[in-house]
Amino acid sequence: MITKCLFPVAGYGTRFLPATKSMPKEMLPVVNKPLVQYGVEEALEAGMTTCALVTGRGKRAIADHFDISFELEHQISGTGKERYLDSIRNVLDKGVFTMVRQREMKGLGHAILTGESLIGHEPFGVVLSDDLCLNDGPGVLSQMAELYRQFRCSIVAIQEVPMEDVNKYGVIAGEALKDGVYRVDKMVEKPDPADAPSNLAIIGRYILTPDIFDILRETEPGANGEIQLTDALQTQAQRGCVMAYRFKGRRFDCGSVPGFVEATNYVYENIYSNQ
Ligand code: UTP
Repeated sequence: MITKCLFPVAGYGTRFLPATKSMPKEMLPVVNKPLVQYGVEEALEAGMTTCALVTGRGKRAIADHFDISFELEHQISGTGKERYLDSIRNVLDKGVFTMVRQREMKGLGHAILTGESLIGHEPFGVVLSDDLCLNDGPGVLSQMAELYRQFRCSIVAIQEVPMEDVNKYGVIAGEALKDGVYRVDKMVEKPDPADAPSNLAIIGRYILTPDIFDILRETEPGANGEIQLTDALQTQAQRGCVMAYRFKGRRFDCGSVPGFVEATNYVYENIYSNQ
């Protein structure tokens, strides 16, 4: 049973400036709920009740979001507005929130290594909350946790993308074991479309085995000075097993403005309006 999920939320969110100058990107609301809350709800649904946040400077709003606001509670207690707090109260009832600060933004791999003290020596989920994943049935992390029970190794969520877009993603190559499940033997970060091993792109959901921490410690920073998770996963794939899973559901790239607008329209029309 995987009980912990890591949320690297320390990034700058430059693609959303000036909105993200003093507000964390992860607090941008898709309709009426911040991005990070969607991710936390997905983790809780998968049984991952300890949500470990790797935060950074300027991210206090995230810590405050996952805490009680006494003034607000007092103000609206007994009024018809209390129901607006239902979803976050539900999250706070179910989850435990732990935090560590990433002092220097040295990439996703470094953010995950920073989270080691919150995770310890056990397998864990990872959610990049700017990828919003929605499914009518079990959420993407639930699907991946089920697969983990079968294979007991790291799992990356993948999606087919147009070949001309592969340079925005990490891409895998591997052997298909069954429908939607691949044993990974190669991973390349942001390949040129001409050199890409496939159009199977890694998106922001992972289950990682804890040996990833030792590998990340040994992983050299790439050309941009960042420690890439994909490099560490490549080492893990060579040593043992990494599976890739084509999940059921929809994913919106809310780290980009067009993806964020698409998600907002989708949630408004298909979820919010039906509540
Ligand atoms: P992104 O590549 O989307 O970077 O990071 P970003 O800084 O958030 O956004 P842009 O590109 O400047 O607009 C992917 C995920 O990894 C986290 C981010 O918060 C995001 O969830 N991250 C990235 C960290 O926590 N620390 C880092 O050093 C880098």
